Amino acid sequence: MNIPDIIIAIDGYSSTGKSTLAKLIAEEYSFLYLDSGAMYRGVTLHALENGIIDSDGAIDEERLKEALKTLDLDFRTDGTYIGDRGVERDIRTLEVSSHVSPISAIPFVRSFVDERLHAFGLRKRVVMDGRDIGTTVFPEAEIKIFMTARPEVRAQRRFDEMEAKGQNPVMEEVMKNLLERDYIDSHRETSPLSRAADAYVLDNSDMTLHEETVWFQGLAQGKFGILE
Ligand code: DC
Repeated sequence: MNIPDIIIAIDGYSSTGKSTLAKLIAEEYSFLYLDSGAMYRGVTLHALENGIIDSDGAIDEERLKEALKTLDLDFRTDGTYIGDRGVERDIRTLEVSSHVSPISAIPFVRSFVDERLHAFGLRKRVVMDGRDIGTTVFPEAEIKIFMTARPEVRAQRRFDEMEAKGQNPVMEEVMKNLLERDYIDSHRETSPLSRAADAYVLDNSDMTLHEETVWFQGLAQGKFGILE
């Protein structure tokens, strides 16, 4: 099956498997996959490494604004970069995860990231995941998916993922971080996480990956008919 040149927006709560589904779609239909959360994580990593976030978690917004003027944050085929440094691993730690939501709630941070995301969207044939892709970044996206799953299922997935990366997660901390991020992401003033009115909801709590891809095929066929 083929799909025309469109934008696919996948939004939803933390650890619902948005990137896993997005990557599968990208591979199957030769789309460019873009992880918008990685940009917010990159900004957060930079802020942490430069003492812009103090040990109590307070953010020096003036310094952050100044730092963004020269921050060279980019996606390459092998992940997220700050200048010539690959940061794909460093942006996935629990430390970054626990500071990223307040950073991403700052309006000038959102403008910084949005500008970069829009540049990629010009190409079309893009599948992008995040929190506000279908509502704010690409409200014109032809296919919008809103993913959700039960918190216990999501925490377990995140825990397994961190363990597989050689980190030593503690389940209570993982769950706490997840619920905190859900709350901040969906209650912030600027483009909060919410389902676009025209998004298809996918609750994958009890689904296999194969079932998810079949669900997506059905959705695409319903929208575009059977395309060779
Ligand atoms: O998808 P993720 O968990 O890597 O995203 C990290 C954080 O970035 C998430 O807690 C909220 C923020 N984010 C956002 O506000 N808007 C997006 N489009 C993507 C991520």
